[in-house]
Amino acid sequence: MKTIIEPFRIKSVEPVYMTTREERESFIRDAHYNLFGLKSVQVLIDLLTDSGTSAMSSNQWAAIQRGDESYAGSESFFRFYQAVTEIMPFKHVIPTHQGRAAEKILFSVIGGEGKQIPNNTHFDTTRANIEFTGARAVDLVIEEGKNPQLIHPFKGNMDIDALRSFIDETGPENIPCVMLTLTNNSGGGQPVSMQNIRDIRKVCDEFKFPLIFDACRFAENAYFIKIREDGFGDKSVKEICLEIFSYADGCTMSAKKDALVNIGGFLCLNDDDWAAKARNLLILTEGFPTYGGLAGRDLDAIAVGLHEILEEDYLHYRIRSTEYLGEKINAAGVPIVLPVGGHAVYIDAKAMLPHIPTTHFPGQTLAVELYLAGGIRGCEIGSVMFGKSAQMELVRLAIPRRVYTQSHIDYVIEVIIGVYERRNELRGMNIIYQPEVLRHFTCHFKYVDTN
Ligand code: F0G
Repeated sequence: MKTIIEPFRIKSVEPVYMTTREERESFIRDAHYNLFGLKSVQVLIDLLTDSGTSAMSSNQWAAIQRGDESYAGSESFFRFYQAVTEIMPFKHVIPTHQGRAAEKILFSVIGGEGKQIPNNTHFDTTRANIEFTGARAVDLVIEEGKNPQLIHPFKGNMDIDALRSFIDETGPENIPCVMLTLTNNSGGGQPVSMQNIRDIRKVCDEFKFPLIFDACRFAENAYFIKIREDGFGDKSVKEICLEIFSYADGCTMSAKKDALVNIGGFLCLNDDDWAAKARNLLILTEGFPTYGGLAGRDLDAIAVGLHEILEEDYLHYRIRSTEYLGEKINAAGVPIVLPVGGHAVYIDAKAMLPHIPTTHFPGQTLAVELYLAGGIRGCEIGSVMFGKSAQMELVRLAIPRRVYTQSHIDYVIEVIIGVYERRNELRGMNIIYQPEVLRHFTCHFKYVDTN
């Protein structure tokens, strides 16, 4: 097989700054060992998130110039609407400033005390928005999806038996919808199979539940279906997307992922009553229904991005280049979540640093060390983020779309392997300050004297 090259050439560049280990020691000390406290110029390779960090294409920048900034009935909205409904043929498309705004509006309409909403795994903003209304968010991913080392092609699948027991226990009248996250970010960026989507649809039909997708990484999920599921190899990604969305009654979307833009989102619904309520809430906090929380030019950039995301050369490069990073570090012995997900590589810090107890945050220790060793910024997804309910101690290296080249990634591989080789020297950490909610963003750490 030939090298998978980046299917684009570079027209505009942004410098990144080299720093010495001594400089990074001082930057991270000033940030209280919290990577969210760093300035971006202090980071060489930023793998904190794949959200809103994409490089836009020359066609997207050209589309920005076409943006129609009219308050009502903007041309940009109709181009956006056309692009969305070509892939996601829902009746109502409501633009929002990002994914969580779509979630906030949806759950304000359908959530509330006594309600329960299942998902494969709720992303943290989805869970928070559901819980904010007094409802309960329930995760029902298959058992294989909870075991980092176990190989399974669709670890994002929902456990259908668990869904049925959940419906029995909860009572169908308390379940306003079933959600499904494509790909399953909190479970390692793992895809959901078409068969699983069909099986969930069957259960939804039986109980008359609307099925709503969290569609942030829908194109990556569709590509996994194409390459891993029997019967889809000859279908285009667009055909696969159309089948996926044919099973849903709506979706929430963060355009900051698979619409290749830096800001934006939307809520799609088929139900007229829900859509009318959602638009009323939209006007209160986001804006008029033909722009939502966005400028006309943002809607145009999304329209072009939704077209580009379906290009199979792009998706091949995207999925393969993420896998390349995972494959190389795993071959050197670094334990990771397998198989590699679509948008990120997740290092299993608990397995890599068995001498650091979870009370001393192995994920945070590793994330800080990757910064000190090479200026790489990843993100702890473990006990710092989820406290005692953390199921794994991971460091996520999320890959921005179309931003870094293979030599950047080769450098990341060298740094990770270097840290792995002296893993026994790493010391754990304690939290010495934390806010009341979402502590991972602002808490302060201190190294322990001994593990
Ligand atoms: N759903 C999923 C699966 C997500 O990954 C995200 C964001 C959201 C919803 C919310 O979208 O940020 O536009 O409001 N994930 C980012 C991440 C923040 O780093 O994984 P948003």
